[in-house]
Amino acid sequence: MIKLQDVWRLYHMGEETINALAGINLEISQGEFVSIVGPSGSGKSTLLNIIGGLDSPTKGDIIVDGEDLSKASDSELSSYRNKKVGFVFQTFNLQPTYNALENVALPLVFARVPLGKRNQMAKEALETVGLGDRVRHKPSELSGGERQRVGIARALVNNPKILLADEPTGNLDSKARERIMELLTELNKERGLTLLLVTHDLESASSADRMLHMRDGEITESVDRK
Ligand SMILES: Nc1ncnc2c1ncn2[C@@H]1O[C@H](COP(=O)(O)OP(=O)(O)OP(=O)(O)O)[C@@H](O)[C@H]1O
Ligand SMILES: [Mg+2]
Repeated sequence: MIKLQDVWRLYHMGEETINALAGINLEISQGEFVSIVGPSGSGKSTLLNIIGGLDSPTKGDIIVDGEDLSKASDSELSSYRNKKVGFVFQTFNLQPTYNALENVALPLVFARVPLGKRNQMAKEALETVGLGDRVRHKPSELSGGERQRVGIARALVNNPKILLADEPTGNLDSKARERIMELLTELNKERGLTLLLVTHDLESASSADRMLHMRDGEITESVDRK
């Protein structure tokens, strides 16, 4: 499903070169749940962004669902992002002036889905995350855990095969964190979504099929949990 071969991502800052990713080799199967842990600056977000087509490697190959992202044009990458992946962010990234339904429907605007169909799909995604009764609420009228549910509904609305979650519970208390983890695990187990989760929380990380440890842009350890 996902294959990275000797993937590097370098940043040039004046004289200095930062190896955000330093020769990553990785294969992830369809339906697998993989967690990524490691210290701040070890390259976790960079890895997720490259798999999600938000960033491109400096060197190396990345193939997702048969598509070679390292050779894709900008328009091919944006269509890839729209069709195959859903992103969930630590800070939710919701539009404050839009209600839950409008936030979730936003990716469908870019995918040129007609209004009626958009609203119906957004409503269904909100029901999937247990927020069918909060569609008219704006982000400021929702709890932290509910905001992240809206974020997850937005990630799901295009029916992606891959869900990429970068510290999705980083801004939540332990109760909300547990419920978001339950939801993510359920989406992985019941819908067969391939799930990549970056987290500092070892308990959440241990619920994955496989746990990757990163340091200085490298995968230093891979632990099979199941
Ligand atoms: N746009 C950029 N320009 C320059 N350097 C960058 C850029 N983005 C990331 N880096 C550097 O690349 C390295 C990896 O960053 P990355 O964001 O992937 O780390 P991370 O593991 O996600 O950290 P955190 O746990 O703090 O989120 C860091 O040293 C960072 O400073
Ligand atoms: Mg990060």
